[in-house]
Amino acid sequence: MAMSARIVETVNPDLVDINFGCPVKKVVCKGAGAGVLKDIDLMVRLTKAVVSSTSLPVTVKTRLGWDSTSINIDEVAERLQETGIKALTIHARTRAQMYKGEADWEHISRIKQNPNIEIPIFGNGDIDSPEKALEYKQKYACDGIMIGRAAIGYPWIFNEIKHFFTTGEHLPAPTIEDRLLAVRQHAEWSAEWKGEKLGLIEMRQHYSNYFRGVPHFKDFRKKFLEIFTLEEMDALIHETKEFYSEYLASQQA
Ligand SMILES: Cc1cc2nc3c(=O)[nH]c(=O)nc-3n(C[C@H](O)[C@H](O)[C@H](O)COP(=O)(O)O)c2cc1C
Repeated sequence: MAMSARIVETVNPDLVDINFGCPVKKVVCKGAGAGVLKDIDLMVRLTKAVVSSTSLPVTVKTRLGWDSTSINIDEVAERLQETGIKALTIHARTRAQMYKGEADWEHISRIKQNPNIEIPIFGNGDIDSPEKALEYKQKYACDGIMIGRAAIGYPWIFNEIKHFFTTGEHLPAPTIEDRLLAVRQHAEWSAEWKGEKLGLIEMRQHYSNYFRGVPHFKDFRKKFLEIFTLEEMDALIHETKEFYSEYLASQQA
């Protein structure tokens, strides 16, 4: 962990966030991710090792505890604060819950009310709209909110929430062009990272999210699922744009 922190430092990130929340079986069975919630001493040792090996701010993200009978976030928050971390994000579920049930933000509120806790506390779990973000921020009085699943295929959510917080109004929904641009950029990065073919195959899981609520997208989705190159994607994006500009014009007429 200490060596990893020194490696990431070389690309000048703003901070190092340790993920002690991952519930995946192959991760927790090695004592990693949310697995360390079963061993707070280990969690503290790992965090100290990272804090002392880097000059970057270190933050931690974790869950409420291993399961509903062993919720230990109160002790975890106090002991992690002592290691010198700069903020703590709490996903308000236990490891046993994985992603099921509702996140219970009452625990986040309790940690915020602990007079010994001075570091910022970020809440996480189930935020998927500007209204819910504002409601939870006010109700549970956390210092910030982290968003996971609602941002997958919908990166606009962050601006939408920020805009709603400052103006009380909703930004217009992303246009077809906005969505296609985001898909193209995502595909390019995916291709750079994984190679063109695999990158485009991995994109397949995202199209439904990028185009949620867009009428008639079903037929285009099928076509997106069949492409393997960025060139094919460009042609399909062109075809999609043409269709929707005609479709929207016919709707306005
Ligand atoms: C596919 C997937 C991948 C995730 N990867 C990470 C990760 O790399 N690091 C992390 O801290 N959390 C990760 N998470 C957890 C989310 O950040 C978040 O804690 C969780 O989804 C609950 O928040 P949400 O209800 O807003 O999605 C992942 C979640 C999902 C569904």
